[in-house]
Amino acid sequence: MNLRNTICLLFLILSFNLKAQTQSFNGPSWLAPKHKLQTSEEAVKFVSELMDKMTLKEKIGQLNLPSIGFDVTGPILSEGVEAKIDSGWVGGVFNTYTPNAVRKLQEKAVKNTRLGIPLLLGYDVIHGHRTIFPIPLGLSSTWNTELIQHTARVAAKESTADGLNWTFSPMVDISRDPRWGRVSECAGEDPYLGSMVAQAMVDGYQGGDLTNARNLMACVKHFALYGAPDGGRDYNTVDMSRYKMENDYLPPYRAAVQSGVGSIMTAFNDVNGVPSTCNTFLLKELLRKKWSFDGMVVTDYTAIEELIDHGLGTEKEVAHKAIRAGAEMDMVGESYLKYLEALVRENSELENDINTACRNILLAKYRLGLFDDPYRGLNNQWQEEILSKEHRSAAKQAAEESFVLLKNKNKVLPLKQDLKIAFIGPQIKRKRDLIGNWSGAGDWKKAVSIWEAGSAIKNKRYALGCNLIDREFIREQLNQHDGQIPEHQDPKTLIDDALKVARTADVLVVALGEAFGMSGEAASMTQISLPEEQINLLRSLRQLNIPIVTVLMNGRPLVLNEVLELSDAVLECWFPGTEGGNAIISTLLGKNNPSGKITMTFPRNEGQIPIYYNHRKTGRPFEQDQKYTTKYLDQPNEPQFPFGYGLSYADFQYGKPKIQLKNDTLYLEFKVENSSKVSGKETVQVYFSDEIASMTRPVKQLIRFEKRMILAESSERFNFSIPVKDFGYYDENGVWKWEAGSYRIHVGPNSENTQMIAFECK
Ligand code: BGC
Repeated sequence: MNLRNTICLLFLILSFNLKAQTQSFNGPSWLAPKHKLQTSEEAVKFVSELMDKMTLKEKIGQLNLPSIGFDVTGPILSEGVEAKIDSGWVGGVFNTYTPNAVRKLQEKAVKNTRLGIPLLLGYDVIHGHRTIFPIPLGLSSTWNTELIQHTARVAAKESTADGLNWTFSPMVDISRDPRWGRVSECAGEDPYLGSMVAQAMVDGYQGGDLTNARNLMACVKHFALYGAPDGGRDYNTVDMSRYKMENDYLPPYRAAVQSGVGSIMTAFNDVNGVPSTCNTFLLKELLRKKWSFDGMVVTDYTAIEELIDHGLGTEKEVAHKAIRAGAEMDMVGESYLKYLEALVRENSELENDINTACRNILLAKYRLGLFDDPYRGLNNQWQEEILSKEHRSAAKQAAEESFVLLKNKNKVLPLKQDLKIAFIGPQIKRKRDLIGNWSGAGDWKKAVSIWEAGSAIKNKRYALGCNLIDREFIREQLNQHDGQIPEHQDPKTLIDDALKVARTADVLVVALGEAFGMSGEAASMTQISLPEEQINLLRSLRQLNIPIVTVLMNGRPLVLNEVLELSDAVLECWFPGTEGGNAIISTLLGKNNPSGKITMTFPRNEGQIPIYYNHRKTGRPFEQDQKYTTKYLDQPNEPQFPFGYGLSYADFQYGKPKIQLKNDTLYLEFKVENSSKVSGKETVQVYFSDEIASMTRPVKQLIRFEKRMILAESSERFNFSIPVKDFGYYDENGVWKWEAGSYRIHVGPNSENTQMIAFECK
């Protein structure tokens, strides 16, 4: 049999296996195995032969991941890294990029160490590498998984061109708490959408074949439940029932595993009293046994050492706990380097854990083809692709599709280009915030501001209007970390200048929002409304009776009540990336029709948090005029904007949905008509509810969606086929359960405004 036939046969066997696994998979169809992480026999043989030659110290060296370079997200930075590489005490490094810098490190590992084992070269490539895309919360608002996959693909191309082979992305933590700053890095509150985004990102980075030098190994994080800290305060405790975690929080991590993700990162938080980084239930029971994960496990930044502060013992004791639990690569802390040898002397069984960890790290290197070519991407051969025209155009499309039109009274948007437009606000000319947080290798100077993008608008004027941040202590904290917040200016003078400029205009475009450092890691907030000075600016401008279009840039859902009252239109633009300004202008002028929909609920005030659409039923559902039902006295239960909400310049009408049950599959069909004179993309959303079950179930949960262009004055027919098995749930022991009985399907443009059909499943 020739090589080609052998490969075909191998492929057939693999796809057959995958098919068999998919069919026997005990869970919803959308979480079934998709691509398997390949562990070939050759790989296993190569790695075990290599390990036979390794000393214990060399094996422990593979478990060490120091940071070398520009960024630090924890209290310490690694020291003496180059000497440690020479000694064979380093398995990978992160935070350095560009072929010249990285090559130097790789050469040290390959040429100076006894066995010449190459390094993993990691970096936080989160929403683009040099070409920056919208922050992940914005990307998820596109509901366009193909586009999201493409952004990860572009990021893989640019970062491999810079010599990297590993990214600490995607972050798939579900969050229902907009006080938590890192919601900017996640895909929102929904486990199904979150899973689709997780798969798209993994596919985009890894491209199906890690040996290809243009593909990056992905790292799904932070395992687990990092998005549910008490009080929304970063790094805080998580306490959660198995029932809730299995159904609402774990699916996206698992989806990434089912897509063949090469690595997974532990979380900083504890889960039910055991920190994730030494949590045997998470790392062994779930990840390895139940989910059959065959990749490698890395900790978060100094997370092993932080077990001391969690109160779990001395550094030596916590190193023991972490390696026993299955935390394999120690990011920055070096507790393994310091203590594992001594621990093995005391307890030789630990060597098995070290061997497993080392094996998994070496297998990752094998999959990446590093033993064949440790210098992949290190010859400056793809540098011209960085920030190319194509990449910038992908960034513009992603930004355009991520924008969510929250309000558009009297169709004030889109604007006519010949209007006299006053551009007012701290976000009109600022560039730094455009690329948002976690934009490591992105250069904000390459980003296009709203003002620059509007250069073709003839009749335009500008005023700053207000300070971006009005509280000095926040400004100070942000500037300690390169927040680039300018000196505070006299607010009255700024408003007076803005009023002068505004009086001569037909319409006011007011760009407000957060500074990029107000969301992201260690950026939790108890108040999530705009700073008072920004609201004051809107109040003053409102007096003029000129239409106000508010453009928002921010990294989390905000409390917007007064902003909504004072504005005629509100366009949520997140931190939109390198092409942000161009995308905003094209949307304001109607060259782009906004199609984003929010993936996290926007609350009316902070007291409603945690707030999310897929909450469980209570025994006293809300009833008007009934005292003893679930409600607040001072606010409605409903949010300001529900999950899935977003307007368009077009008008879409949903037809009546029809269903049919055949062979354990539900067939759903409905029409959506665009009755307007503009074409636009619409994301149709399909939810279901289980009316009678053994456990309390959510009032609604997303089960399918589709985004499609609907041309002006025409309609599109949508069809979905959903295996009835997908209407099941994980019980309190994590077992997938399906129950016959009454169900409902809910179809609509968002999670609140839906049409319902009831049906029975036998
Ligand atoms: C973050 C991770 C990140 C790591 C490395 C940590 O502080 O929690 O998400 O990947 O730093 O930079």
